[in-house]
Amino acid sequence: MQVEEVGAEATYDLRARVLRDGAPEIDVRFSCDDEPAAIHLALGDRRRPVAVASLVPAPTDLRPGRVAWRLRGMAVEPALQGRGLGSLLLDAVVERSRAAGAEVLWAHGRDSALGFYRRRGWSVEGDGYLEVGIPHHTVVLDLATKG
Ligand SMILES: CC(C)(COP(=O)(O)OP(=O)(O)OC[C@H]1O[C@@H](n2cnc3c(N)ncnc32)[C@H](O)[C@@H]1OP(=O)(O)O)[C@@H](O)C(=O)NCCC(=O)NCCS
Repeated sequence: MQVEEVGAEATYDLRARVLRDGAPEIDVRFSCDDEPAAIHLALGDRRRPVAVASLVPAPTDLRPGRVAWRLRGMAVEPALQGRGLGSLLLDAVVERSRAAGAEVLWAHGRDSALGFYRRRGWSVEGDGYLEVGIPHHTVVLDLATKG
């Protein structure tokens, strides 16, 4: 299965079903979606992907002075979770961020997904907080700098 770069709208269906519980009143668009530098990745058929993630350059106070990109909207088709698809996509996220010059990746990670990020080498940093009513922590991945 392949990871492809897609338009933001290709991520909306999975975002809505996985991250917004299908609630039609909650907007699945992010303000950064249409930033020229934003990258949207989809795994599988680009018209009906099985996993999606978005990336946008965004500094973080956790790594002052480093070139940082933020991962947003990471979602895997519910029936296919726990089969390695999220890991496959996260590998592509890391590769794509590095290629774009990122030194650090960060995200607001749901507490229920912290184990997923930890297993992929991310660190959980700072105090927890609520976002859309769901407990989160910030997760960070330091990317190896070039020789
Ligand atoms: C979190 C999510 C993206 C992970 O994708 P996935 O395809 O289910 O994960 P994988 O099958 O690639 O799992 C990779 C590893 O992380 C582990 N893992 C996955 N989800 C986990 C979780 N919630 N807690 C702890 N460990 C988890 C798996 O056991 C697996 O471990 P292994 O490599 O030792 O076998 C996906 O489950 C999802 O969309 N969840 C709902 C939405 C969500 O939480 N998105 C993230 C918002 S920050």
